[in-house]
Amino acid sequence: MASQGDNVVVSSVNLEKLLCMKGGKGEASYANNSQAQALHARAMLHHLLETLDRVRLTSSEVPFQVVDLGCSSGNNTISTIDVIIKHMIKRYESSGLEPPEFGAFFSDLPSNDFNTLFQLLPPSANYGGSMEECLAASGHRNYFAAAVPGSFYRRLFPSRSINVFHSSFCLHWLSQVPESVVDKRSRAYNRGRVYIHGAGEAVAEAYKQQFRKDLADFMRARSQEIKNGGSMFLACLGRTSVEPTDQGGAGLLFGTHYQDAWDDLVREGLITREKRDTFNIPVYAPSLQEFKEVVEANGSYTINKLEIFKGGSPLVVNHPDDAAEVGRALANSCRSVSGVLVDAHIGDRLSEELFLRVERRGTNHAKELVEKLQFYHIVASLSFA
Ligand SMILES: C[S@@+](CC[C@H](N)C(=O)[O-])C[C@H]1O[C@@H](n2cnc3c(N)ncnc32)[C@H](O)[C@@H]1O
Repeated sequence: MASQGDNVVVSSVNLEKLLCMKGGKGEASYANNSQAQALHARAMLHHLLETLDRVRLTSSEVPFQVVDLGCSSGNNTISTIDVIIKHMIKRYESSGLEPPEFGAFFSDLPSNDFNTLFQLLPPSANYGGSMEECLAASGHRNYFAAAVPGSFYRRLFPSRSINVFHSSFCLHWLSQVPESVVDKRSRAYNRGRVYIHGAGEAVAEAYKQQFRKDLADFMRARSQEIKNGGSMFLACLGRTSVEPTDQGGAGLLFGTHYQDAWDDLVREGLITREKRDTFNIPVYAPSLQEFKEVVEANGSYTINKLEIFKGGSPLVVNHPDDAAEVGRALANSCRSVSGVLVDAHIGDRLSEELFLRVERRGTNHAKELVEKLQFYHIVASLSFA
């Protein structure tokens, strides 16, 4: 993994190799900074269960395969898989059918910290025993686990092999920073900014087109992999504004204090303007309409639900009145998701300086952050006939 980062231009190929949430179990790791996602997932649980209720039950002879796309490393993905499999077992049992064996695939980009994830997995139940014994073994996992490295914007599984796809808080990550946004000769060069939020029209168009292409690729790949009768549950950041340059919560996260911290580095002579301008966060929170257009254009899925709703703050703090804690939470939250890209772009030492400034600025604006930082999520429940 790059750590000096002096001249790493994050192209599509590099992004796939580089991008991951911060691994391990340290203070700024994703495992330690994903409680907000856990809370937001809990608020959407009924949508997930409704999606699972639509999955066609299969013969007990054939393994039932579940995938979490963009699993990252931490407990969230393990809880999700647990919920999905327990719910499916209940459905089999209440239909008087013998549950099949279950397989769970944890999938993410190759740099993901799969080691930490595997250490967090509960021990496997004894599959040498009967199925009843296995399902009754509490504190154990009743599925076969495997990791699948690769981008979800391409094929990851054999045709018609998967019963349930799940993906939470991932599809706003683009496959790449749109090329024109970091090309000095382009109208869409994002001069002075590190994110789409507050940028010009050409930048907005470049991000929007990238999102459309990426989601279309995702939908196409999954429509080949999902079994007839299978379902897919997707949740990602969304925005309520029609204007792509108003990215809502993501805009407040990456377009204000984070942006100011990059500007600090330039003002203090620690990096050049160009160095800042060639860094862009490859995140795009779509509107519901934008998301819907791509799913409809694909045409393979029945849309059971497609909604946007208020998810809450990405900052989980014990004492909202403690400005220092809020500042630290902001810096850790930004670092857990973008730290690896920042390290690659400006190196570890300057990355440390950047996040110190994010923390300071977050501390100075703690009240506003607590009041205003809200994420909206797009939730999609799709079935494949
Ligand atoms: C914010 S984390 C979400 C983790 C987890 N799903 C949760 O709910 O806590 C986003 C994850 O998406 C992954 N991701 C982003 N782009 C991806 C891609 N093209 N293919 C596969 N995974 C990707 C990242 O590596 C990261 O682990």
